[in-house]
Amino acid sequence: MNGLENIQPPPGLLQNQKNSTAIRIWHWLTFAGFLASMITVLLGSTFFKTKDNISPIMVRVAREGGLVTKDQARAIAHDYSDKLWNGHKIIGFVLCFLFVSRVLIEIYQKKNDTLQNRIRSALNLTPSNEKAIRDRNFYLLVKRGYFLFYIIFLTMAMTGLVMAFDDIALLKPLQKTADSIHLFVQWLIYGFIILHIAGVVYSDLHNNKGIVSGMINGGEH
Ligand code: HEM
Ligand code: HEM
Repeated sequence: MNGLENIQPPPGLLQNQKNSTAIRIWHWLTFAGFLASMITVLLGSTFFKTKDNISPIMVRVAREGGLVTKDQARAIAHDYSDKLWNGHKIIGFVLCFLFVSRVLIEIYQKKNDTLQNRIRSALNLTPSNEKAIRDRNFYLLVKRGYFLFYIIFLTMAMTGLVMAFDDIALLKPLQKTADSIHLFVQWLIYGFIILHIAGVVYSDLHNNKGIVSGMINGGEH
């Protein structure tokens, strides 16, 4: 007995999966949130990089007939970079809210629509041939991949929050570690997003037509 015997696989489990309204709204808001967050990171490491803006500020002020020291120019460049990272922090709070919403959706939406139940239902299937076994295993890989993404998302949110509240004495000793983890985990997020988009587009063009529009209109009912 593994506790899975009573779970009936929902119709069309492996294909034409239905997506609840809550998940669809959540998905596209999360997409927008991550996109906005990544744009701030891109700007912060290019146009708004403090180091790169010091000499342009000095040159510009000199051209206007003024004079600033290197330290003064650095302070100005740093102020603008700070503004941008503040934007990143605010978008980060929105992402934290979206993470909590995803947990609430999992708890309160119809049982059949939950990620947990989908994984259990797929485990409960008894595929009858090679192809069915492969389909089921791939489905499990994708759904477990989402679960892993949620853990990565949580890590990003927790380390981001530690950095956002760096004035709290208790969190001060954690700053360096949080920063290193946050910096490293961003690459897992980029990896997931590239793989995910390539995967859903490929599926839509091949064996799972309509999967992308299913994340917009809910899928076949
Ligand atoms: C999930 C919620 C998130 C929160 C609360 C958050 C918060 C923060 C905070 C407070 C900082 C420090 C900013 C500063 O230097 O003043 C930061 C830095 C950074 N964040 Fe996030 N962030 C989040 C998500 C993300 C995501 C999704 C990415 C990219 C995929 C990302 C990439 C970065 C990078 C590259 C830095 C710069 C770190 C450094 O240069 O040391 N963050 N984040
Ligand atoms: C920042 C970018 C994105 C992130 C972070 C993201 C995240 C996710 C997550 C976490 C899920 C699983 C939802 C669940 O718990 O069931 C999901 C599903 C899905 N996403 Fe995205 N997504 C992104 C971009 C996109 C884009 C651009 C598309 C369309 C081209 C897309 C199409 C889909 C589809 C069709 C599904 C359902 C796939 C399935 O049933 O296995 N996503 N996405």
